[in-house]
Amino acid sequence: MSTTENAARVLKTLKDEEWRTLAGLERASSGYGTPDLGRLSRMSRLPPERVRFATDALEKRGLAMRKGQGFVLSRTGVEAMALKDYVKKDLIFALGAIIAKGKESDVYEALTEEGTKYALKLYKIGRISFTSVRKKRVLESAQFRSWMTANYDAAKREYHALRKLDGLSKSFPKVISYSRSTVLLEQLSGVRLSQRPEIEDPDSMLRTILGLMRTAFAKAGLVNADLSEYNILTDGAMVWLIDWPQAVDASHPNATELLMHDVKAVSTFFKRAYGVESDSDSSFGYVTGRNASLE
Ligand SMILES: Nc1ncnc2c1ncn2[C@@H]1O[C@H](COP(=O)(O)OP(=O)(O)OP(=O)(O)O)[C@@H](O)[C@H]1O
Ligand SMILES: [Mg+2]
Repeated sequence: MSTTENAARVLKTLKDEEWRTLAGLERASSGYGTPDLGRLSRMSRLPPERVRFATDALEKRGLAMRKGQGFVLSRTGVEAMALKDYVKKDLIFALGAIIAKGKESDVYEALTEEGTKYALKLYKIGRISFTSVRKKRVLESAQFRSWMTANYDAAKREYHALRKLDGLSKSFPKVISYSRSTVLLEQLSGVRLSQRPEIEDPDSMLRTILGLMRTAFAKAGLVNADLSEYNILTDGAMVWLIDWPQAVDASHPNATELLMHDVKAVSTFFKRAYGVESDSDSSFGYVTGRNASLE
């Protein structure tokens, strides 16, 4: 069972005091050192005796790990809190099947009570191997802190980038919410462009993509900065530009350089996969808004 499936499973079984201890551990984990029972007791506002019971339960379920006298939160613990957050806000009701397993994230289907399907993206940048940790018992709190920072920040950055893009086009995924290392997105259909699916009109699709980059740049002030056939989904007619955590502001000193890089990545792919010819100077002039139209 994956950490996420485990997190979903414990959702209904965790007691209130265990949730409070988990939340206390999360707050304590952003500071220095490894929080011990005394600190956890203060952070969760529970008597030390209750915290002792709660940490035993959290440890047994893989939500926290003991390190010396202290405790370290696990990825399952983080994801359990995120899931609980969405459930509490009535955003989701259940976790569905896995949609994709990437290098930097896992994407799961998440269901609302009405049966709407969302996509839940859970970041796992710099994955910590908790199995080896359990064996060696050497997970450093600093190691967890840096994992936490990287993944919480990525989720937050992707959420804010997608909020800026909201309403500009149906080709930018709608973002519902974010929590901890996760973002909740509208679920898209389609496959990655890298799979080279059959496309009705490749030439026009490339133009559409360049038009979307132009919109993101001019109207949202954003450059994706990691655009390629791997971060574009399509159903053959529609396209969606996904994966925005590394997006940079149009005012960033390297913004135009990164935009040029995105333009080249996409144009090169369309030439290689579909034989579409394009002029990179003209395309670049168009996405930056220098040229009114594509030649
Ligand atoms: N909103 C969505 N709806 C449906 N599927 C999605 C959605 N967002 C992402 N996916 C699926 O998850 C995959 C990975 O998403 P994304 O590119 O955002 O994450 P990533 O961390 O960059 O993953 P990778 O390391 O594989 O590139 C996508 O290629 C797609 O198959
Ligand atoms: Mg990606």
